[in-house]
Amino acid sequence: MVIQQKIKKSNLQDLIKQAEQSIQQSHNLSALESVRIAFLGKNGYINQQIVLMRNLNSIQKAEIGNIINNVKKTIKKLLYIRKNILESILIQERLLKEKIDISLPGRKKTKGRLHPLTLTNIKIKNFFEKLNFTIVEGPEIEDDYHNFSALNIPVHHPSRTEQDTFWLDDTRLLRTQTSGIQIRVMKSQKPPIRIITYGRVYRKDYDKTHTPMFHQIEGLMIDNYSKFTDLKGILYDFLNYFFTKNIKIRFRPSYFPFTEPSAEIDITREKDHWLEILGCGMVHPSILQNMNIDSEKFSGFAFGMGVERLTMLNYNVTDLRTFFKNDIRFLQQFK
Ligand code: DAH
Repeated sequence: MVIQQKIKKSNLQDLIKQAEQSIQQSHNLSALESVRIAFLGKNGYINQQIVLMRNLNSIQKAEIGNIINNVKKTIKKLLYIRKNILESILIQERLLKEKIDISLPGRKKTKGRLHPLTLTNIKIKNFFEKLNFTIVEGPEIEDDYHNFSALNIPVHHPSRTEQDTFWLDDTRLLRTQTSGIQIRVMKSQKPPIRIITYGRVYRKDYDKTHTPMFHQIEGLMIDNYSKFTDLKGILYDFLNYFFTKNIKIRFRPSYFPFTEPSAEIDITREKDHWLEILGCGMVHPSILQNMNIDSEKFSGFAFGMGVERLTMLNYNVTDLRTFFKNDIRFLQQFK
């Protein structure tokens, strides 16, 4: 637009037409704002006309001033209408973009389940708690004394070797059995003692029925009346409680340096395929004496069982390693 030196009425009317055109061509709010500034801004076309008014006499000033005011009003109105249209277009676009399809199916909440080994653990604890066994815990990093020596396991016993045991240094190791807890308990408690413990143990083994880490439940009972038949009775009761389906139990003599006599229990569901699930026996009198428990007055029994093995048999799992693969399809089957 050419800046005129003189005000002409026709030019003022033209301003409305030009504004109308520019406003119609504004397709968004910022373009519209530029049009507003060009016409109504401090240095806009309207103000340029007002500046030119200073050369007019007072009658002309009144007449032209009136016209300019009307032009200004009209342009303002046009801007206002266009602004409303552009804003409602914007809202429509946004509504379309943010539209929610309420007919879509919702996201399902998936329910977590307890790990099969946890289920076994709970079931075992429930049984022994009813018989007044207290649950105790022990360290996973053990020392040579609690894991081996105090349990009568001689210095050159093969289970101590690098091949079987995860040694951390000369004296510390990842416990290979929970039996060390028996020692800790006999040192800190006086008979009668009735405890069970649950925890991880570690051995260098890996096949269908072994993993380098597995769980054991250990029990210890010492008082002045417990006999080998009590041990057998408790374990038979336990196994009949634990396995709801038909199983066969085999109680056979065995050897553990910390029990005398010692036995092992195997279990089968099919013919001829026995799986060893626990070791047990009467606490060796020499261990009682070492712990300052009078072996003439007190006797007791102990047992340790493999939690994975029990779970395998209970749920018919054929490969123990699947418990630690964290395959959700496998884990979902257990209730
Ligand atoms: N600690 C033995 C093992 O890991 C199992 C065991 C045997 C535990 C006899 C006992 C026991 O408490 O008396 O094979």
